[in-house]
Amino acid sequence: MYEHVKIELDPREIPRRWYNLAADLPTPMLPPLGADGKPITLQQMSAIFPENILEQEMSTQQWIEIPEEVREHLMRWHPTPLRRAYWLEQHLGTPAKIYYKDESASPAGSHKGNSAIAQVWYNKQAGTKTITTETGAGQWGSALSFACKLMGIECKVFMVKVSFEQKPFRKVLMQTWDGKCVSSPSLETEIGRKVLAEDPNCSGSLAIAISEAVELAVNDKTGCTKYALGSVLNHVMLHQTIIGLEAKKQLEMVGIRKPDVVIGCAGGGSNFSGIAFPFTLDKINGAEIDIIPVEPTSCPTLTRGLFTYDYGDLSGFTPLLPMHTLGHDYIPSSIHAGGLRYHGMSPIVSQAVVEGLYNPLSLPQTECFEAALTWARTEGWVIAPESSHAVAGVIREALKAKEEGKEKTILFTLSGQGYMDLVGYDKYLKGELQDYVLSQDNIDSIGPRLAKYGLPRAEERRTGKWQPGNRE
Ligand SMILES: Cc1ncc(COP(=O)(O)O)c(C=O)c1O
Repeated sequence: MYEHVKIELDPREIPRRWYNLAADLPTPMLPPLGADGKPITLQQMSAIFPENILEQEMSTQQWIEIPEEVREHLMRWHPTPLRRAYWLEQHLGTPAKIYYKDESASPAGSHKGNSAIAQVWYNKQAGTKTITTETGAGQWGSALSFACKLMGIECKVFMVKVSFEQKPFRKVLMQTWDGKCVSSPSLETEIGRKVLAEDPNCSGSLAIAISEAVELAVNDKTGCTKYALGSVLNHVMLHQTIIGLEAKKQLEMVGIRKPDVVIGCAGGGSNFSGIAFPFTLDKINGAEIDIIPVEPTSCPTLTRGLFTYDYGDLSGFTPLLPMHTLGHDYIPSSIHAGGLRYHGMSPIVSQAVVEGLYNPLSLPQTECFEAALTWARTEGWVIAPESSHAVAGVIREALKAKEEGKEKTILFTLSGQGYMDLVGYDKYLKGELQDYVLSQDNIDSIGPRLAKYGLPRAEERRTGKWQPGNRE
């Protein structure tokens, strides 16, 4: 029975090209805009990112070659195994076959290394000496510290305060790879000092941490400090597609032409994109696949947010992005899945949702921790709270298949390991965790709050109804 518990690909099979969904969406992507409402140019962004990365960010080329050195770095842990969750299947008594791509197998413990390696490599080519970044749960900061160490670049990480306090060993992990990690909001930047002056107990948010990291990059007039983002932007989604491209080959090895359901947890969208985008192309070409991003009920960007232009950070340093958003000034509650506490979402994922290609789902944290325990007690691994959202979604789908008596194939990514997240497990086991559901008042306030900033409406532009001068 346990025939294909672990499906391994030869390292020579690491993909040679990334897949860019922006090339295939039914309607073209809307451009990022500057504060003046005009499409932003590469030059305007070059204080923040190196040009080689910006070219990728703006590309609508369908396939983009992966540099050989990037493939070689990735070989440390890629191809990641595709595993079958036999023990969970048995526990649930489901006829569904559950496969998962195990991205927790990377040195820093999550999928984030896939983009960290690529981004650091491009920065190295461009002459960058220091990279600044933000991190939520600490997974991205760890992955970037690791990649920077491999390629001789300094790394400075602003870690959202609530996670910094919940996960103290993440800082040590970053330091192990020579990364410098500070709690955000910090006193090191103007925006950090401003936030702390207004609220000395602020628990932080990814939007604040991004502002701090971007501020340092923009203020370095030598141009040798650049900023790197661990999610949201198109180039990050692109780098993660090796997950889904490998998974496709691995499913073919066990005779599966296509999965029926694809699931990934979604914070800024990169892990989800990694598994989903290659299968989204199949769906656009007619395959029947239910593709589900799973997010927390406390930060329900895709399920309840507005699709509109908004900033990626608190101070408005980033361009305006067309995306689902809860408002860049929204500070999500202190759930343990720190990596899912982001007000916005990848513009490509957002647009695919608008086009009806995905069915987003939001779940409360206690259901997700329960799923993480079920997982640990059947499959064995202790997983990241972020990944537990995917597992909870998988359990729902597997039980649905049982009710319907259907032998579905469910595929998902296990985005990270949870050995640094034991404080969250401890609280759950002691019954101390609570669920947060964003109130309707809060949702209703997003439009009026954003109206203050006079942001252009994305949906009107997408459907061609936009007129110059139209404002939210
Ligand atoms: C393990 C893990 N999974 C998922 C996420 C969510 O981020 P994204 O949506 O960019 O993949 C994070 C973010 O920190 C993470 O650490």
